[in-house]
Amino acid sequence: MKYILAHDLGTSGNKANLFDETGRLVATHLESYPVVYPHAQWAEQNPDDWWRAVCVSTRALLLEIPDARDNLAAVSFSGQMMGVVAVDSNQRALRSAIIWADQRATAEAEWLAEKIGADEMYQRTGHRVSPAYTLEKILWLKNHQPDVYAQTEKFLCAKEYAVLKLTNAALTDFSDASGSNVFDLETRAWRVDWLEKIGVDAKRFARVVPSTTIAGQVTRAASEETGLRAGTPVVIGGGDGSCAAAGAGVIDAGECYCNIGTSAWLSFSSRAPLFDAQQRTLTFHHVHPARYTPMGVMQSAGGAREWVANQIGQVSDEQIADVPIGSRGIIFLPYLIGERSPWWNPRARGTFVGLSTSHGRAEMARATLEGVALNLKLILVALASQGARFPAIRLIGGGAKSFVWTQMLADVFNTPIHLLELNAEASAWGAAVVGGIGVGLYRDWNIANANARVTRVVAPQRERAEQYQALAARFEKVYRALEPLME
Ligand code: XUL
Repeated sequence: MKYILAHDLGTSGNKANLFDETGRLVATHLESYPVVYPHAQWAEQNPDDWWRAVCVSTRALLLEIPDARDNLAAVSFSGQMMGVVAVDSNQRALRSAIIWADQRATAEAEWLAEKIGADEMYQRTGHRVSPAYTLEKILWLKNHQPDVYAQTEKFLCAKEYAVLKLTNAALTDFSDASGSNVFDLETRAWRVDWLEKIGVDAKRFARVVPSTTIAGQVTRAASEETGLRAGTPVVIGGGDGSCAAAGAGVIDAGECYCNIGTSAWLSFSSRAPLFDAQQRTLTFHHVHPARYTPMGVMQSAGGAREWVANQIGQVSDEQIADVPIGSRGIIFLPYLIGERSPWWNPRARGTFVGLSTSHGRAEMARATLEGVALNLKLILVALASQGARFPAIRLIGGGAKSFVWTQMLADVFNTPIHLLELNAEASAWGAAVVGGIGVGLYRDWNIANANARVTRVVAPQRERAEQYQALAARFEKVYRALEPLME
């Protein structure tokens, strides 16, 4: 039996997963690491925490499945996107990574919009100008930490740091490059002309390859650290926003899905980028070489649920289900780290509105889930207004484990939710698909469906859908009323 080792290098931890040649998930191991928030709007991680997590989780899997080491067809990656790791010529990280959730580079975003043009950037890269993206973060480094910028050999995304450590190769793939704000979706190349115009060296950007490309082989040094056999092929893989699509079996144009992890998004597969006149939505490159994944992304979904639970304690699904729709009058805006879709407001903030002494933890916990679901509904409306169709939505990510959230999404979207065999491991499955195709273990993209079979359909209920329709209007009103105060 041959295996693929697929890492899902996420925000809360690295999940290592072993899939066999039929696509079956054989073993999984999670190693957590922290996010540091040194200031409001800042979010950083230590790239060596990622690497340690990759090493520890790999060793754990190899111990659990002893024949895997000698029968490993490939290692592959799904990674958190849009951040920046600055590495020097000795492959050392020069500082902590500025991750996707970090919104400090607001001045740089404004400057870029002026220099290149906000519409031009949206049309070429599929993304509006925003401090969420890598280019803005690189400019912040150049402006505020010129020493770091000067010593940087390559700016990499999260998974690419791990691939560098494993193989000595500094590469990126179409999907992660498409989260940089400087990658042309149509020509699939960096906008070197823009880089020249803004004074950023193109040589500091990694070579871009299709996601299924073999980046290199596990080196002797990496073999000692991970326990992997030296020479094992490493496939570059993709960003989590695109691996998740493959993992949900969303390859054919028009197929759609929703992912709830730390962040959350609603997306579909398409043959062309999708441009919204109001720039509420965005387009990443798919891990499939001829597809795109238009989507709307929210910053804090599972992240908001976790944060609230950390403050008020865990509230079970059963307790939440006992609270009526609308959480007895509380509305929660889940904008704990600003928001991307649909508002694109780095200054947006989390807020509970409507609290009284009659409310308790259960209402607050329910309002949290509702706030996320209602923001996803705004995203659905934005995508649908551009012609996207959502006859049924596959749900993946840790959020799919909650029966209350799943039913809530069916009712809020007024659309059937399809649950798959995999939820929290779906992005890793996408990475395994990419890895398996890369080394020829999997014949083609049809393999994606091996783990994307629908196991349960959660139907919306009309009465509840109507109640949520009214609640959605109130939710939007609350944000619009508070928006000027957030400024
Ligand atoms: C993926 C996306 C990413 C994630 C974190 O669609 O937008 O920023 O939110 O990797």
